[in-house]
Amino acid sequence: SDVQVAIIGQGVMGHNLALNFSSHGYSVAVFDLDDSLAKATETAALSQQLPGTVNVASDLAQLLSISQQPRRIVLSVPAGKAVDSICDSLLDSGLQPQDIVIDTGNCHWNDTLARQQRYHSKFHFIASAISGGEVGARHGPSLMVSGDSNAWDQIATMWQTIAAQVDADSGQPLPPHSKRSNRHACADYVGPYGSGHFVKTIHNGIEYAQMQMWAEAYQLLRQHGQMDNFAIAAVFRDWQQGQLHSYLLECTIAVLEAMDGHSQQPLLPLIVDAAGQKGTGTWTTIASLELGVAAPSLASAVYARAISSQRALRQALHGNLASPAQPAVELAQLERFQSALEQTLIGTTLANYAQGFELMAAQAQQQQWPLDLVTIAKLWRAGCIIRTPLLQQFVNAFSANPKAHLFSDHTIQQQLEATLPLWRRCLIDGIASGVALPVLSSGLAYVDGLRCADSPANLLQGMRDYFGAHRFERHDASQGTLFHHPWHDS
Ligand code: 6PG
Repeated sequence: SDVQVAIIGQGVMGHNLALNFSSHGYSVAVFDLDDSLAKATETAALSQQLPGTVNVASDLAQLLSISQQPRRIVLSVPAGKAVDSICDSLLDSGLQPQDIVIDTGNCHWNDTLARQQRYHSKFHFIASAISGGEVGARHGPSLMVSGDSNAWDQIATMWQTIAAQVDADSGQPLPPHSKRSNRHACADYVGPYGSGHFVKTIHNGIEYAQMQMWAEAYQLLRQHGQMDNFAIAAVFRDWQQGQLHSYLLECTIAVLEAMDGHSQQPLLPLIVDAAGQKGTGTWTTIASLELGVAAPSLASAVYARAISSQRALRQALHGNLASPAQPAVELAQLERFQSALEQTLIGTTLANYAQGFELMAAQAQQQQWPLDLVTIAKLWRAGCIIRTPLLQQFVNAFSANPKAHLFSDHTIQQQLEATLPLWRRCLIDGIASGVALPVLSSGLAYVDGLRCADSPANLLQGMRDYFGAHRFERHDASQGTLFHHPWHDS
């Protein structure tokens, strides 16, 4: 019984996590209802000559019997009912109160809260949200941990060992297995039950918005700019050297340049243009509405996926609703348009992340979670899907002023301000050519809304009072005093 970590579920994530632990010398046990998946992990560890042994358990009882106590059991199973059914089976198989179960799925934070109640005193339960896909799981993910803090102390070293690493000062990602002394691991405890999954949900909300942003840029360049995938990828490669540098841009370029092995044609035109989704973008949007905190760009990205899935309707309306007369940018103007688009994407990115951080700040206040935005921004600097060097700037901004909106930070303000003239220009051109730009335009509306000293909500308040006697505050009276105008008298 020398197994240091047991992993249940050997799908893509579980398999790669097991290899990651093994590559750091940890002795691992793996289990999957499909035995061949567990065996594949054992074979991969052997063929890669990884230092930590990988043991295949034939059932949960054996998994428990070969594990060191207190046991550390990672669940890498689909979020939802599977988590509870495995926890119940583990209890039936002899799980002990001092054992630690770590859920890594994209669970809803309320489900995690319910699990806290359910498993309290039966075993230690930790939610460790994971980001980074299969490559991250294998070579260093970002891990957002919440729940039982004593149990976290017992797994912290392991978690920080297998996580992505950055240089502690610059925030630059370090290669896997880096032994640099001044390094910071992208694995940390963020708060009590539910908070880690909430943080991961917001990560995904930002992920949706950033992905949609790149999709809109692609659409603008191919429709308004009349460029092919490879020409677009070349422009994006240039931008990858600048402020837009990010993992999602790397993904975008890879998809634009991919060839289909079968037909030897570019792959992208063969992919059906209807986006799937598993729910975290929707949860982000619901949270924003419930908290009353604006996250229009994150919500627009979810709606854009919904519209994409209405393929038949889109095809029908395409023929029925006329396109603008002059769809394309003139060749001589193309370079200028591209520069405007680059600024648009920088501004949009700032708006997307700012909205995500605002949601976390508001939820922390409402739930009384001690979420620290600096810790979270640090966790996202490497390993996760939304990693970008910009996160170091967010670390700096929140370190200087932990409670302030990102746009209150002077450096970020300057960056944002520099994008605005060309962001406006780009939207005017794009919208005139009939391209749907939900995220690019919501971001600008968000910025313009926030920098508007005199909002038109005085009119709304007047209307509310006119038809519903909802009353309003006045600038010339003390705050909190409410007035009703006699609209309907006489
Ligand atoms: C990650 C990803 C990962 C996954 C999400 C979103 O951080 O590694 O966010 O968790 O991509 O499940 O998936 P959908 O686009 O299917 O909702």
